[in-house]
Amino acid sequence: MHYTARAHTNIALLKYWGKVDEAIITPTTTSISLTLNEFYTDTTVWFDKTLASDQLVLDGETISGTAARKVSRFLNIVRDMAGFNDKAYIISTNNVPTAAGLASSASAFAALAGAASKAAGLDLSVTELSRLARHGSGSATRSIFGGFAKWVPGDDRTSFATPIFEKVDWPIQLMTVIINDQPKKVGSRLGMQHAKNTAPFYKEWVKLANSQVADMISAIQQHDLVKLGELAEANALQMHAMNATSVPPFNYLTDKSWQVIMIAQELRNQGIPVYATMDAGPNVKLISRPEDTSIIKKALTDVVTSSQIIIASPGPGIKVTSGDKI
Ligand code: ADP
Ligand code: DP6
Ligand code: CO
Repeated sequence: MHYTARAHTNIALLKYWGKVDEAIITPTTTSISLTLNEFYTDTTVWFDKTLASDQLVLDGETISGTAARKVSRFLNIVRDMAGFNDKAYIISTNNVPTAAGLASSASAFAALAGAASKAAGLDLSVTELSRLARHGSGSATRSIFGGFAKWVPGDDRTSFATPIFEKVDWPIQLMTVIINDQPKKVGSRLGMQHAKNTAPFYKEWVKLANSQVADMISAIQQHDLVKLGELAEANALQMHAMNATSVPPFNYLTDKSWQVIMIAQELRNQGIPVYATMDAGPNVKLISRPEDTSIIKKALTDVVTSSQIIIASPGPGIKVTSGDKI
């Protein structure tokens, strides 16, 4: 029996940037995210006794190397849970640039958790799915849910995401400015490990990030875009400051990223509530009201073309179907 899952990416409003336990992927801080409707992964899985090894096809290409090994390691967990050892076919399509700092690992491992667990005959709750997805990529733990979600530190059993509000019925949008859609040089896994091990203020950053959680939740509850945006932008810049002060330093942001960040700051001076957040990549997501779309786009014309702008809104949680159609 084969199963297909669609999971959407999520953008962290408060970032996860460092692990307590590398093997089981538990975070140093609580993170909060918004799942996005425009970006997602579709993954189909079936197990086949006659296969000698797992076969991963991503966007039409057969994959070997690190990405395939990550998937096989993840499937080993599913196989352990189900009590068999059959290998699998995994056919995946990313409707998001892969490894470009737009959270492809979040949608990828959430979708894989959904499709593989079903194909293995497991019927997991959303909490169990979130915990399982975490083993593939930390950010994937939040992509099980739609809307706003929170992922807490803990042990293997207690560290998973829960929804804050799955249905977002107030106007908030994420304008995604694609500056570079090519794979980044330093993957998130290595980047956060290096920052945690070498950034001199990493411990302070953990305290600061955890202290922002209650305010972010109340901003979400109150539909307070200004408070949410201010906190998200500050948190993102603090994470990037960790990287800039690592030894040796590294950096995901480019001149163009900074131009977009500065444009958001200038628009705020004109009374438009727009805030920037960046994950581990150069691409900038602008948090704003949908009604300000055209004024923001106009302000960006000197930096990017309109084809580099994708308007995303809050997106849904994971969906799994039997067969290969969503
Ligand atoms: P991103 O910012 O896109 O999340 P990461 O460095 O966190 O970048 O993760 C990228 C990695 O996630 C890829 O190199 C690959 O190992 C994995 N990945 C992305 N999409 C898929 C997919 N659809 N199926 C399996 N693995 C994937
Ligand atoms: C900056 O979840 O991609 O996007 O757990 O090693 O796979 P691994 O890392 P990943 O890291 C995401 C980092 C981030 C912030 C976030 O999504 O919270
Ligand atoms: Co990632």
